[in-house]
Amino acid sequence: MSRRQFVGLGLRMRTDARSARQQAQAMSLLHEDAYIDGRWFSGAERFEVLDPATGEAVAAVARCTADDTRRAVAAAERALPAWSTLPARERAAALHRLVEAMAANEDELARLLTREQGKPLAEARGELRYGASFLTFFAEEARRLYGETIPSPRAGSRLLVLRQPIGVGAAITPWNFPSAMIARKLGAALAVGCTLVVKPAEATPLSALALADLAEQAGIPAGVFNVVTGDADDAPTIGRVLCEDPRVRALSFTGSTEVGKLLLRQCAATVKRVSLELGGNAPFLVFDDADVEAAVEGCMTAKFRNAGQTCVAANRILVQRGVYEAFVEQLGARIAALRVGPGFDEGVAIGPLIDEAALLKVEEHVADARARGATVRVGGRRHALGRTFFEPTLLEGVSPEMRMTREETFGPVAGVMPFETEAEALRMANDSRAGLAAYFYARDVGRVWRVSEGLEYGMVGVNTGLVSTAEAPFGGVKESGLGREGSHHGVEEWTELKYVCLGM
Ligand code: SIN
Repeated sequence: MSRRQFVGLGLRMRTDARSARQQAQAMSLLHEDAYIDGRWFSGAERFEVLDPATGEAVAAVARCTADDTRRAVAAAERALPAWSTLPARERAAALHRLVEAMAANEDELARLLTREQGKPLAEARGELRYGASFLTFFAEEARRLYGETIPSPRAGSRLLVLRQPIGVGAAITPWNFPSAMIARKLGAALAVGCTLVVKPAEATPLSALALADLAEQAGIPAGVFNVVTGDADDAPTIGRVLCEDPRVRALSFTGSTEVGKLLLRQCAATVKRVSLELGGNAPFLVFDDADVEAAVEGCMTAKFRNAGQTCVAANRILVQRGVYEAFVEQLGARIAALRVGPGFDEGVAIGPLIDEAALLKVEEHVADARARGATVRVGGRRHALGRTFFEPTLLEGVSPEMRMTREETFGPVAGVMPFETEAEALRMANDSRAGLAAYFYARDVGRVWRVSEGLEYGMVGVNTGLVSTAEAPFGGVKESGLGREGSHHGVEEWTELKYVCLGM
């Protein structure tokens, strides 16, 4: 069932839909209008945002047109001179105030996030803190945006390099982290003096709009941060304006590889700076010398965070023969113990998938694997809760030709394959056009170096299942993207170097 058909279902269940909406409406940070030039904008039409756990409509959000998007770009352009010339410490102070506002409203933001995205409430809180950590990091970084002086080859001249904001930026963000993926881009862009137009995913615009409200409360001026909303039909129109408008100088996108390639092509006409964080197909390797218990723990994080709906999710689990049985045994026990349910329920570890289409894809991956010889050790079916819930699953006998090894499953399904040698493991791990994150567990120091260097991935977790942090560069190689977010490298996506040759 497509998301649109799902909307229809929501309308048929009118009484329930109203109560879900009323619950959401009670939240002061719930906005259904887009946010352009410091004003709430209702648009001529609306689209429904659904609770993925129930299919109920939570809000009816403004559909922005191409003209609305151009107005947002114009507002960002007008706001640019004042914002970019504000002393860095004042921009930093505004970002710090936004962080404080997020902390003061964490309960409501977390409930909104769980309501529209489905993840367990504790994970929603974690996401908010993760997002805020980027705002804090870049607020600090704003004050260290150093240039260079270069020893001149000639007497009578001085060579300088300035780092300046690139200008108006655009961000297109995904539904799996509806708040943090915006904060990660917003923090870097605003810290260096850019202004921003954000198009949040159609499934999860509410966290973005709540952030806009808090940004206004934090004193971020009109036009500096704009949120343009639209449904799945509007996304190509809005995206095209953001890519093709010459006033937009940089585009940052997190989402699928397919859409990333399209946006990259569309940005070519205006030669924009493009940063892309696209799909991964992360290998997770466990070597014979690994601490198996720690590897199981890391695998649970790498695979089941956000019900497996992360770009850095472990998608292929490769285990060396000597520890294979022990690892699979322990992993199976941990997976079987995961509690599934709506994100608001106490103790839930696995929430719903984002929509019915996501569930169908997971089902197809499991069916394809089984048809090609994989066996189900745990789970393997839709959960008894129905709708968008899938049983946490462990499959054995997975092989390289299966869909679940070639594509991201984006669901709570772990597939395990054995290997014999380090060389074989590296060959299997690198057999992918994606190159975002990889993980491995080993204790031999020589192996740790060899495998870290040999993995063709932008990020490698060694003896850990979680690499994401504001302090480190997040991004991929090969078809997983361009550029880096987070860390001091993150400001490069939003700045230009200007060489000044000073004759004296
Ligand atoms: C993503 O899934 O795109 C982001 C995950 C992360 O930041 O850890």
